Amino acid sequence: MTKLSVIGLGKLGVCSAACFAYKGFEIIGVDINKDLVNAINNGVSPVYEPGLQELITSAKDKLKATQDYKEAINASDTTFFIVPTPSNEDGYFSNKYLISALRPLAAALKESNKAYHLFVITSTVSPGSVNGSLIPLIEKTSRRKLNDGFGVCYNPEFIALGSVITDFLDPDMVLIGESNEFAGEQLTKIYKTVCENNPYIARMSIISAEIAKICLNSYVTMKISFANTLANICEAIPGANIDHITKALGADKRISPYYLKGGLGYGGPCFPRDNRAFAAFAEKYGIDAKLAKATDEVNGFQVKHLVDLALDHISATNDGMISVLGIAYKPNTPVIEESPGIKLVEALLKRNLKVMVYDELASDNAKVIFGDRIIYSTSAKECLSKSSVCIVTTMTDEFKKIDGSYIANDPTVVIDCWRILEPSRLGAKVKYIAVGRFDYGHCTACA
Ligand SMILES: NC(=O)c1ccc[n+]([C@@H]2O[C@H](COP(=O)([O-])OP(=O)(O)OC[C@H]3O[C@@H](n4cnc5c(N)ncnc54)[C@H](O)[C@@H]3O)[C@@H](O)[C@H]2O)c1
Repeated sequence: MTKLSVIGLGKLGVCSAACFAYKGFEIIGVDINKDLVNAINNGVSPVYEPGLQELITSAKDKLKATQDYKEAINASDTTFFIVPTPSNEDGYFSNKYLISALRPLAAALKESNKAYHLFVITSTVSPGSVNGSLIPLIEKTSRRKLNDGFGVCYNPEFIALGSVITDFLDPDMVLIGESNEFAGEQLTKIYKTVCENNPYIARMSIISAEIAKICLNSYVTMKISFANTLANICEAIPGANIDHITKALGADKRISPYYLKGGLGYGGPCFPRDNRAFAAFAEKYGIDAKLAKATDEVNGFQVKHLVDLALDHISATNDGMISVLGIAYKPNTPVIEESPGIKLVEALLKRNLKVMVYDELASDNAKVIFGDRIIYSTSAKECLSKSSVCIVTTMTDEFKKIDGSYIANDPTVVIDCWRILEPSRLGAKVKYIAVGRFDYGHCTACA
């Protein structure tokens, strides 16, 4: 079986490495962070992701990590690069980490007597990066010719944090941009072993795959923003129900129900920046990507809209504690990058309000940003019993259980961004406000 190396053992890399090992590949992982390397070698998951620890435990014999790039080249036939590509000011992705990882590996390839090595770029890059700068760097450093001594594929992932393992093993589609047919064939064979659902494998030129990656995420964010605008409209119209409308829209095959809920804006490490990168890329070619820009603008508005809604109700109740349930950008992840919950807390603090938050997975990350400026609760129940306004920002299962037994203050305003609570179970003290619903948009306490 082909031996694989994975460079970058962060949120995506460690999951990919564990999935490959679980499917029987010998894996050698590399990271500049020694703690991650030690964790893997001790059989401990270095990041939180559902199902990851179980995979690492079951595949322990196949999964090793090192900080030695030479060892990685010599012990594998194919290397996956899953290092950060942070956004530059202009929206483009920086390739500096990719370059710093590719250079020592290409140098190690130059020294080795292997006939061929496959380099797979998984990090999200701006279109034109692989052919324009990464392949020339490998050629120059390894002193080998593309498609002779080495091949290159661009193979971005479409996983979502919180479901990385299932998305990886059961993908809708595998995207492969290939430097030639042989390189694409090698990578296809790997995915045929790894994927459990025989997915569509979309093979194409490297530049087409680079464009496909960022335009897919740009399209999804456009869909989310469309549903959010619809939710805003429904809030203003008696009798209109966002959930009934999106359910009908989603039943149409041309639309589909996914990412069409209507509520808070999107966040996280991929959607916001991928959409902006798409607009920046279009601009470089003289095209004004108006839809992508408007999507970004609508997304910014959603947080402002929530803050306004919260402030309306806060001023009408009292100046007590406001609690925020959900600080990560979505359930089942500790990640808070571009999270609406974080932006909401920032806005509340700017108005000198007292804030208590609860998020089982993300509180530690929130502490890095807010320190002792807010109170970190250990339960949803405590938040509700100690606050007069509570805002539920994520569709976390635990929050769906909230009922009247959690409530102390009369009145307590509960703002439900995703309409996951059952208003009839909340009791008489609660004034229930639902984003996207006119009939739950006005409370007597605020009249
Ligand atoms: N996390 C996601 O949801 C997701 C989804 C799709 C695509 N991606 C893309 O995957 C890439 C990685 O994302 P991530 O979230 O896993 O990042 P991350 O920051 O969690 O992990 C990256 C890892 O790479 C390591 N690293 C940096 N330079 C290195 C080097 N020269 N050699 C070895 N290791 C090095 C870092 O120490 C870190 O552990 C990015 O391009 C991102 O856009 C991420």
